Amino acid sequence: MDVLVVGDANPDLVLRGDVRPRFGQAEQLLTGADLVLGGSAAITAAGCARLGLNTTLLTALGDDVFGAITRQRLEERGVGLLLATTAPEIPTGLSVILTPDDDDRSILTLPGTIPALRPEDVTDEHLAATRHVHVASLYLQPGLAAGLAGVFARARAAGVTTSLDTNWDPAERWDSITDILEHTDVFLPNANELRAVTGEQDVDKAAVMLVARGTTVVMKNGAAGARAWGPDGESSAPGRTVDVADTTGAGDSFNAGFLAGRLAGLPVAEAIRWAAAAGSLSTRAAGGTAAQATRADLEA
Ligand SMILES: Nc1ncnc2c1ncn2[C@@H]1O[C@H](COP(=O)(O)OP(=O)(O)O)[C@@H](O)[C@H]1O
Ligand SMILES: [Mg+2]
Repeated sequence: MDVLVVGDANPDLVLRGDVRPRFGQAEQLLTGADLVLGGSAAITAAGCARLGLNTTLLTALGDDVFGAITRQRLEERGVGLLLATTAPEIPTGLSVILTPDDDDRSILTLPGTIPALRPEDVTDEHLAATRHVHVASLYLQPGLAAGLAGVFARARAAGVTTSLDTNWDPAERWDSITDILEHTDVFLPNANELRAVTGEQDVDKAAVMLVARGTTVVMKNGAAGARAWGPDGESSAPGRTVDVADTTGAGDSFNAGFLAGRLAGLPVAEAIRWAAAAGSLSTRAAGGTAAQATRADLEA
């Protein structure tokens, strides 16, 4: 493998139209419904595979119809699959995404198997078989989070590079990730996540604090693109102007672009240009994976 992605996979049911719920048994009519591959780890893995990386996803899925759909979508995208063992009664996770015609959205998530991954599911055999390990959606997976510093330390001892995208903490507790960052080559937050994990509002100050812990910080900045801070200094990359259909998973596709650049040997300042382009291009279609970039797209 080039990349072992570890984390969440589930279907996203994306509903469009008159989706602001009115209770009292009201029936509302939709204009569209799509059942697509969701989960930050799954979208990143699909993006890596699309970019030509030999990619495997380690995740937990239930033995049910949502699990079967998720497996099928990952196989279609050329992602190898390693499934953690979970209790048979736990259902596959699901997100229902309500997108009214404007820019707003509401997300209803059944965690199901999403929190089921354990640190010991990432075995030394898995680590010996990959160049890089990426972990997504840390705050949805407290069991994995509790031992992730040890997993990343084992990875690095085996010569494997490491990256982390915590994504948002739905509980907004933002438990410390300092011990994990000491073993993380690249931390990939968006601007609000960078502020939240550090408690520092100024993103420059926040990033410098984390660089002092030994990690490179690559910050996603929506339509503005990306910024990076590391031992070799700072850099930035512009977002691309595209006809935005849906920004779901843009940050995950960004991660894939970044990893493809780094694993092709590019320096961070160049890899964030690939990343920002991969993020922007992914917004051209609904759902996280339908418009993900190819390597030719990024080089162009
Ligand atoms: N409206 C947009 N127009 C163009 N590119 C975008 C837009 N929103 C996001 N992107 C691209 O996707 C990347 C990640 O998006 P962002 O929203 O910052 O992350 P996240 O999805 O993790 O919150 C950005 O760095 C940028 O390259
Ligand atoms: Mg994100």
